Amino acid sequence: MIILATDNQIQKVADQLCIAKSVAVLTGAGVSAESGIPTFRDSLTGLWSNFNAEELATPMAFRKNPELVWQWYYSRRIKNSSCKPNFGHLALAKMESKIDDFSLITQNVDGLHQAAGSKNIIELHGSLQNFICFDNHHHIENHIVDSSPEKPPYCSICGSLARPGVVWFGEVLPELAIRSSMEALEKANIFLVVGTSGQVQPAASFGLIAQKNGATVVVINPDESARIENAIFLQGPAGEILPKLVSLTWPT
Ligand code: OAD
Repeated sequence: MIILATDNQIQKVADQLCIAKSVAVLTGAGVSAESGIPTFRDSLTGLWSNFNAEELATPMAFRKNPELVWQWYYSRRIKNSSCKPNFGHLALAKMESKIDDFSLITQNVDGLHQAAGSKNIIELHGSLQNFICFDNHHHIENHIVDSSPEKPPYCSICGSLARPGVVWFGEVLPELAIRSSMEALEKANIFLVVGTSGQVQPAASFGLIAQKNGATVVVINPDESARIENAIFLQGPAGEILPKLVSLTWPT
């Protein structure tokens, strides 16, 4: 049975949120779970419980077996394209419309925050909407990607193989995304950490950085193991807690 944060606990965060000048949010796979997209580390349905990350999500894996890696990301992209934003994504888009200075840092590559109407999005791990070439990161157009479900097409500029524009293990995160995240964490009065297990750096340290910068940190997650020391914990699914938080903060 999932324990849910009480209205009282959520109201305390709402009281702070309505006077916050700057708000930053970090999301992980859990925010998309209610849209039907599997998380990575759920023990039964998690992608990394059913697939080997080393064979699929590293540059070495792509060099060794580009077709296998391509097919896996291609099928995730197809599945994602039939998924819709849930109440959690929508609540974050509404929150952004109420706050002047709002940044949404996401580790997700599914594009559902954009689909929900969020604007100031920092994609830390890239995007499954964007394909690039392996050698030179030239952009590969969607119609070329779509027409090649079995094997990666070639880049029309340099001839190297196409790959998904996501960050793989062992790769450096986009510099601009890191810089923008640090700026958001510096300003934020409140930092919400939603639907992430906190197992992957550097995002796993963002809560601590925000706390050091003086922000109130709030963790929203059904699982206790996602708690961060000295942070407020609102237990429950993002699709229930976030809409409640938004409606208690801005009742009309
Ligand atoms: P994980 O799969 O590690 O964690 C998902 C988190 O979401 C867990 O803490 C769950 O308890 C929580 N969760 C599940 N359902 C939820 C719900 N309805 N509402 C809120 N939370 C819920 O996913 P991430 O933390 O996003 O990186 O993983 C981080 C990175 O590891 C990913 O971006 C990916 C992965 O390897 C790369 O591929 C580079």
